[in-house]
Amino acid sequence: MTRKKIVAGNWKMNLTFEQASELVAVMEDRLSQSPAECEVIIAPPAPFLGLLAKRLESIGIAAQNCHQSEKGAFTGEWSASMLRSLDIPFCIIGHSERRSIFNEDDEVIAAKVKACDDHGLNTILCCGETLEQRKSGHQKDTVITQLRVALQGISSDSMDRIIIAYEPVWAIGTGETATSEQAQEMHEDIRAFLAELYGPRVAQFTRILYGGSVKPQNAAELFGMPDVDGGLVGGASLDADSFMGIISAA
Ligand code: PGA
Repeated sequence: MTRKKIVAGNWKMNLTFEQASELVAVMEDRLSQSPAECEVIIAPPAPFLGLLAKRLESIGIAAQNCHQSEKGAFTGEWSASMLRSLDIPFCIIGHSERRSIFNEDDEVIAAKVKACDDHGLNTILCCGETLEQRKSGHQKDTVITQLRVALQGISSDSMDRIIIAYEPVWAIGTGETATSEQAQEMHEDIRAFLAELYGPRVAQFTRILYGGSVKPQNAAELFGMPDVDGGLVGGASLDADSFMGIISAA
């Protein structure tokens, strides 16, 4: 089975609305001249979602997070149903910055994945080990445990709306990338785990993205690995030239 690759840009908390609009305009223009072979997604800061969504033609849009509850007294938060009401089709859940800075544990992440699923959103579910966990040889059990808990409420029918992003924490924003062999090894383990949990069909169609210092210079090699189905890109997605360079490698 051929899986269509995805290149998703996680803007994190960067850019003014003016800069964001300019970046989107340049990207759309370039993609209209040379259409991407992969699916292209951007994840702008939440305040920009509704306005930017209206300007996108060939680019999909994702939120970077959502709250697990439907509604209520959660100042500063937004729900999956709100994203749905804005026609935002994707949501990133469980990014390592949410885990480490905002103390989201696997159970909270599981509830968020379930909330997205309940509202028909496509979830980009992030997982990844720290440097200590890798050094002590625990990278695989760390990642598999994260996924096992996060997917506990997800049926195999819902798996066509789940995208996994493997992002080793030590490679995020550090300029240090996992080697293509390290990425492939973990992606293969993740796919084997999906086969165990949901059967071979789900394992075969689920896209598993790599994230962590993806750049135009290393994208082709990473994306060339058999189980790497594209990338979740942070820093390099903030610049049209570098993001386009990554897109054309997919
Ligand atoms: P980076 O971020 O590409 O800047 O390393 C990746 C991510 O956090 O998704």
